[in-house]
Amino acid sequence: MGRLEGKVAIVTGAGSGIGESTARLMAREGASVVVADINRSAAERVAGELPSAVAAEVDVSDEPSVVRMVETAVASFGGLDVLHNMTWTSPSLILGFSTGLSRSTSRAS
Ligand SMILES: NC(=O)c1ccc[n+]([C@@H]2O[C@H](COP(=O)([O-])OP(=O)(O)OC[C@H]3O[C@@H](n4cnc5c(N)ncnc54)[C@H](O)[C@@H]3O)[C@@H](O)[C@H]2O)c1
Repeated sequence: MGRLEGKVAIVTGAGSGIGESTARLMAREGASVVVADINRSAAERVAGELPSAVAAEVDVSDEPSVVRMVETAVASFGGLDVLHNMTWTSPSLILGFSTGLSRSTSRAS
């Protein structure tokens, strides 16, 4: 049994490189994977090669886009256990997302 059996994972930047390898590894370990990337066709290619996966187009610097990505995980697989962010964005945005602060609030602080 894989170490991620029954888990739901989002991997951003999963259309190529390290993110793609991470998505493939998580899938091998049994996770259902949201293959998220700004490049939709790349995300669809990777997701199509995994046993339990969906593609999500996301721009990690755009909060509504990130919300839609999480909603895709919940709608497709019933929840979210793992978030692996393989794309860079500014620390203030990451802080804002993780604390629930709005983008303008986190930038002002
Ligand atoms: N490859 C390395 O040796 C290495 C070493 C240290 C750090 N890094 C860092 O790790 C990250 C990934 O590296 P990689 O080699 O896998 O790069 P990569 O270019 O192969 O993959 C990055 C993926 O992120 C996607 N992406 C870019 N901007 C995005 C955005 N705003 N929202 C969503 N997806 C977006 C791209 O479409 C691409 O599929 C980069 O930030 C890189 O600087 C890489």
